[in-house]
Amino acid sequence: MTRPLDADRLVVASHNPGKVREIGDLLGPCGLTVLSAGDLGLSEPEETGTTFAENAAIKALASARGGNLPALADDSGLTVRALNGAPGLYSARWAGPDKDFRAAMERVNNEMGDAADRGAAFVCVLCLAWPDGHTETFEGRVEGTIIWPPRGDKGFGYDPIFQPHGHTITFGEMDPDAKHAMSHRADAFNKLVNACLAHRAS
Ligand code: IMP
Repeated sequence: MTRPLDADRLVVASHNPGKVREIGDLLGPCGLTVLSAGDLGLSEPEETGTTFAENAAIKALASARGGNLPALADDSGLTVRALNGAPGLYSARWAGPDKDFRAAMERVNNEMGDAADRGAAFVCVLCLAWPDGHTETFEGRVEGTIIWPPRGDKGFGYDPIFQPHGHTITFGEMDPDAKHAMSHRADAFNKLVNACLAHRAS
């Protein structure tokens, strides 16, 4: 991180109150007051990027400029090696307007066919942006294997077909606390919080 985050307020570029609360909790160690893009009446930009980092930057910059404060956005998804990274950016869109993740998981399995390489990763990219256009990016990943049929109903999205390396259960079968401790989101937020704390200590 090349620029210290010395503001005491941060905009979270989301209109989802649950997500904003969760991000506020994850940023607790940084001592920041978190506001949401929804609270500030900021509109949601179209996610026209071609990478997770581009989409996170589009969202973070729109909120930073609109709110005239540093802003944080995330973008995440499942990348499957045998599918050249798909569904990737389109992870949510593969489930369609009805958010049918059973169908999205079936599509992953069907498109993989009998591929020998079952490797996949969940990726989370965080972008911290300032009103002057400066950005800092933090990427978190968790590597694993795509399994079929899906197992477990504790998670969301693609969790039932993702078995993290070193485990014999899927994210869908895992206790939420255990998943949250090792997830792509945890990895990205740890990197961001550690960078903030390192700057404050120096
Ligand atoms: P978002 O853009 O971060 O809200 O997430 C994009 C999509 O990625 C979600 O709708 C899910 O399909 C997928 N995704 C991201 N993180 C996870 C996860 O932890 N488990 C399962 N699916 C996930």
